[in-house]
Amino acid sequence: MAQILDGLKVSKEIKKEIRADVEKIVANKRRPPHLVAILVGNNGASIAYVNNKIKDCKEVGFKSSLVKFPSTVSESELLEKIDELNKSKDVDGFIVQLPLPKQIDQEKIIMAIDPRKDVDGFHPENFGKMALEMDTFLPATPYGILTLLERYGIETKGKHCVIIGRSRIVGKPMSILMGRKDFPGNSTVTLTHSYTPHIEKFTQNADIVITALGDPNFLKAEMIKGGTVIIDVGITRVDDASEKGYHLAGDVDFESCKTKASWITPVPGGVGPMTRAMLMKNTILAYKTSVY
Ligand code: GUN
Repeated sequence: MAQILDGLKVSKEIKKEIRADVEKIVANKRRPPHLVAILVGNNGASIAYVNNKIKDCKEVGFKSSLVKFPSTVSESELLEKIDELNKSKDVDGFIVQLPLPKQIDQEKIIMAIDPRKDVDGFHPENFGKMALEMDTFLPATPYGILTLLERYGIETKGKHCVIIGRSRIVGKPMSILMGRKDFPGNSTVTLTHSYTPHIEKFTQNADIVITALGDPNFLKAEMIKGGTVIIDVGITRVDDASEKGYHLAGDVDFESCKTKASWITPVPGGVGPMTRAMLMKNTILAYKTSVY
């Protein structure tokens, strides 16, 4: 029976460490770190994510601001706000919650963010630095997964890591990070995606499986070998008859896979809270490395 990689517990430890750091900063009469979130439109999941980020800021003692735009916002209005935040000496880091409406060119928006304030680690300059093993902001979800593996002492060196999904936010950076020379890395990485035939041929040979595709219960016990480490990044809202009207489902058939895996992340309470904690970590890093 698999042991649980408890992201909720580890995220609380990390937030506690950050809070202690902020208390020291404030005791030295310096202002606390300040994170700004830009939210466009009314996507339910995006609203929930951003509200959680603001809540986390309060918990660790950061200042936070939420900037809301209607879904009809123009690209130039958004770029104007980004320019203002780039220049502001009061702002250490900011994020533009994705996805953005169709009329907005997402890449143009990301490119406009000052890389020194890009606490999501999405700017190509930061992505390049990450790939080249230079110090930079790591994207929060991959960073959270690495930290979870590290804190539980899971060996990654020489292991075969199979990643499912090649998104710019999770799969692609994860595939680079798992193969890097520093710990936890040094894995042999296979990046699978929607055009990979017979994904089970790869997952059956994996020591570590990281799923980030948003397809509830995709990974079944027969697709893995015994003793695998399973990291489930999927959090899909599935409609149901509950009061909320939905529940969150991972990519992994948890009940069958937990009987075969060595370690497994639950959904919720696995990768999600780690992602949130690492955004706080990147923000305090931006604060400490800023020129102000
Ligand atoms: N949408 C889904 N995940 C993320 C994230 O980590 N950052 C931003 N900005 N948008 C997202």
